[in-house]
Parts: sequence; C-alpha cells; structure tokens
Amino acid sequence: MHMRGVCGAVPLAHFFLRERVRSGDLVVDATCGNGNDTALLAELVGDAGRVLAFDVQQEALDRTGERLREAGLEKRVELHRDGHEQLSRYLIEPARAFVFNLGYLPSGESRVKTAPESTLSALEQAQQLLQPSGLILVSVYTGHEGGMEEWAVVKRWSAVLSPLEFNAWQSCQLNRSEKAPFLVLVEKMPSGQRKGPLETVTLSRSTRQ
Ligand SMILES: C[S@@+](CC[C@H](N)C(=O)[O-])C[C@H]1O[C@@H](n2cnc3c(N)ncnc32)[C@H](O)[C@@H]1O
Repeated sequence: MHMRGVCGAVPLAHFFLRERVRSGDLVVDATCGNGNDTALLAELVGDAGRVLAFDVQQEALDRTGERLREAGLEKRVELHRDGHEQLSRYLIEPARAFVFNLGYLPSGESRVKTAPESTLSALEQAQQLLQPSGLILVSVYTGHEGGMEEWAVVKRWSAVLSPLEFNAWQSCQLNRSEKAPFLVLVEKMPSGQRKGPLETVTLSRSTRQ
C-alpha cells in the first residue's frame, strides 16, 4: 500500500478525511481555491456521494473545475461562487465533513482572503450541520496580515464547544517554523457515545489537577 507523508496542516487534514469520509457521503469544501481538497473529497465520496465547494473568486472555481475534469470527478461536485457564510442556503441535510483552508489563493490575488467574521459565521453553520462522527477541519495560517485575528476567532469558537457534544483539537507540527499553518479538528461525538454530564465533570476535574 502506498503511504503518504503527513508534512503540514493540509496533509494532516487529508489523513483525517481518508479515515472518516466514506462512499456516498455528503461533504463540503468551504474554500476550494486550487481544488486540492475538493479533488480528494470527490475521490472519497465516490459516485454515490456529493461535494459542495465554495469560493468567492471565479479564478478559484475555474482552477478547481479544471482539476476535477482532469481527474474525471466533476459530476460529484457542485461548485458555488459564493461566500461560505452562505452555506446553509445550499445545504439542508447534515454533512460528514467540512474543510476550511483559510487565507488566500496560492499564486492568486492575496487581497482576497478569508476574514474573521465570515469564517466564524460559516463555522457556526457547519457546527449545526455536522453529522455525528463528522469532522470540521480548519487549516489556519497566522503568517499573513489578519491571520492572527482570524485564528483568535477560530480558537474562541472551538474552545467553548460543549465537550458533551464535540471534541476540539489543535495540531501543530513541532519541527517546523512557528509560522507554519496548523490544523484545528472538531469532531461531533459519534451517536451513542455522547458523554453524560457526570463523566464530563469528572474529566474536567482531573485535568485541572
Ligand atoms: C488557502 S485558499 C484555499 C486552498 C484550497 N483549499 C486548495 O486546496 O487549493 C483560500 C481560498 O478561500 C477563498 N475565500 C476567501 N473568502 C472566502 C469566503 N468568504 N468564502 C469562500 N471562500 C473564500 C479565497 O478566494 C481562496 O481561494
């Protein structure tokens, strides 16, 4: 079996997507850009699945469309030229995964980038529309202007998610620059495995010691 390296936030996000997304799933790429994440999602959901992909730039949708056509995956994907803050207008059923790759389009217009307010709105909608066992994966870049402000918003949102319902993680690669992108992973608790209030109280007490 061919093993892929896990170097950087995006390969780590792909590692988790390969673990969790199955044939027939409904998934969302909230920032399709060059289409790398969209192509992986389309591959994972198979012919029976569906990918909704958003970007505010036509250039990004064109690049993603081309990428999908080259791989013969275009029939599995709906491309929307709209902000991810509008995602609940397009999505009415819960999805297995939401992928956010924040910042600007590589080798594109760097003034057009994700922004704290719209990112927060999209994350809150994704939280409402996430299936049990589903994942929200956010690759966060703090190295560009405005990146730290956006990270502050993502961190506040994920840190107060109820531990009865969600697991929220931050993963950074320790042997890379502190400015390297890192991954936030939010998992909705699998159905039947939601923690009871007593267990949660015990856990939070023991972690305080
Ligand atoms: C880092 S790139 C995404 C890279 C992409 N996932 C890939 O695999 O190539 C970030 C993208 O977010 C897009 N973007 C900025 N604001 C947005 C918004 N409100 N909604 C959706 N996309 C947005 C940008 O146009 C840019 O293409």
